[in-house]
Amino acid sequence: KKVWLNGEILDAGSARISVFDRGFLFGDGIYEVMARIGGRFFYEKAHLKRLDTCLQKIKIDFDTRILTKEIPKLLQASDLFENDCLLYIQVSRGVAPRKHAFPHDIPPTVMMYVTPKILPDINSVNASVSIMNDFRWSRCDIKTTSLLGNVMANESAVQQGCYEMLFLRDDIVTEASHCNVFFVKDGTVYTHPANELILDGITRQVVLELCSQLNFEVREEGISKQRIPQMDEAFLTGTSTQIASIKQIDQHIYYTGDEIGEVTKALQHAFLALKN
Ligand code: PDD
Repeated sequence: KKVWLNGEILDAGSARISVFDRGFLFGDGIYEVMARIGGRFFYEKAHLKRLDTCLQKIKIDFDTRILTKEIPKLLQASDLFENDCLLYIQVSRGVAPRKHAFPHDIPPTVMMYVTPKILPDINSVNASVSIMNDFRWSRCDIKTTSLLGNVMANESAVQQGCYEMLFLRDDIVTEASHCNVFFVKDGTVYTHPANELILDGITRQVVLELCSQLNFEVREEGISKQRIPQMDEAFLTGTSTQIASIKQIDQHIYYTGDEIGEVTKALQHAFLALKN
């Protein structure tokens, strides 16, 4: 397995990062995950732009444009140029004596790797999900490597036999531990507005675009916990999840079998057409 680290391609076993790297000490870094399907990245520009925006939000100075040239080298070295895979990119603030305030003039630590991953044509996961109050911070728009809240929430979902954990703020569904969340009622598609309480997913943006192409009315409006039983459909979106139908949220059951709602299904098919 190969790793791209600060401009060099190394065997994963010999890639080294200092224990004083702020990514390790503070989770002081930003990451991206993007999917390569049929020999091209799905919305590469949008992912790199989000990486750029997040780095600016936390004042890490790194020119993401160099990655466009470096990613193909990593794909070649990993023998994954032609294969479906997921690319992970991480930029941390760099190595400095441990002090909370940002150090100045240190180079960031930049790391990337690719892992083979075949995303199914249409996500056949009909997800059961759980729900809890969001105990994370209030800057969920920043794709930080500090993911303790997300991993604890997802672990709790998995312990309950669920695929995902939905988050509530003041009883409004915002997003999930590694996905965005959508609802459908009377043909209208609802999702939480892209403010500081959610990560504005690239898949979320693509789905909103597909809704407009398919003439589905969209409201970027959070759905309260009380309204969950009144919704017709619910689904998750994310780079590795794609579009997954939700069959059950805690006690509320949308589908007992493997049926998928009409709007969810239409979006899954439109999404598949984009990938091909
Ligand atoms: N998840 N919200 C959170 C908290 C996330 O971690 C993710 C991404 C999303 C969806 O974003 P996008 O559609 O850009 O992947 C929303 C990881 C990276 C994943 O799904 O693989």
